[in-house]
Amino acid sequence: MTTAVLLDVDVLRTAIQDEYAEVAACPMKGFHFHTGRFLASRLGYPSARVDSLPDAVVESFAGVGNPFSWGDLNPGETVVDLGAGAGFDALLAASMVGPSGRVIGVDMTRAMLDKARHNAAVLGLGNVGFREAYLEDLPLPDASADVVISNGVINLCPDKASVLAEAYRVLKPGGRAQIADIVVARAVPDDAKEDIALWTG
Ligand SMILES: C[S@@+](CC[C@H](N)C(=O)[O-])C[C@H]1O[C@@H](n2cnc3c(N)ncnc32)[C@H](O)[C@@H]1O
Repeated sequence: MTTAVLLDVDVLRTAIQDEYAEVAACPMKGFHFHTGRFLASRLGYPSARVDSLPDAVVESFAGVGNPFSWGDLNPGETVVDLGAGAGFDALLAASMVGPSGRVIGVDMTRAMLDKARHNAAVLGLGNVGFREAYLEDLPLPDASADVVISNGVINLCPDKASVLAEAYRVLKPGGRAQIADIVVARAVPDDAKEDIALWTG
């Protein structure tokens, strides 16, 4: 699953951070992917749930599916959101797990994290926090999470094996992963893997 081509991971990460800083700062700009309320509705999020979030969070939603389509989270659970972005799923998760639970959103893009933290405060949610880190090296203890969620992120990581190994490491035995992402059924040609515009687009 590792991308064994001449791809400069630091250059790729910077391009992805630039792209998603734009999604945080100028969500109405228009991107090569859908965003916001229209996307959330299309992916099956109940409108009452979407309406419970500040517009600023909804407008920067950039997922590809709905991790809660496999089931809601339970009160008291500890949840890690891999690539939490502006906090759309993490803030919904915080409502589901309630005050006895905890949600940790992890992302590498500062503008997304700032937006997520600000809106967690707007909602008065004390059970959610956000960490700046790479998913390939999670700053979290072994066996500390009941559930790992993620939405539209692992396709952006060239070293998918490390991300999945980290998710497995932080999950408690018997924990579960509810991941929405893009999977291609055919091998991606090396020249496409080396084209950073295709990763960010
Ligand atoms: C398509 S957005 C999805 C954000 C959010 N899950 C949502 O549904 O709105 C991808 C996010 O993954 C983050 N990301 C991509 N690769 C990452 C990595 N290797 N480590 C940490 N975050 C990463 C980006 O910064 C961006 O916020």
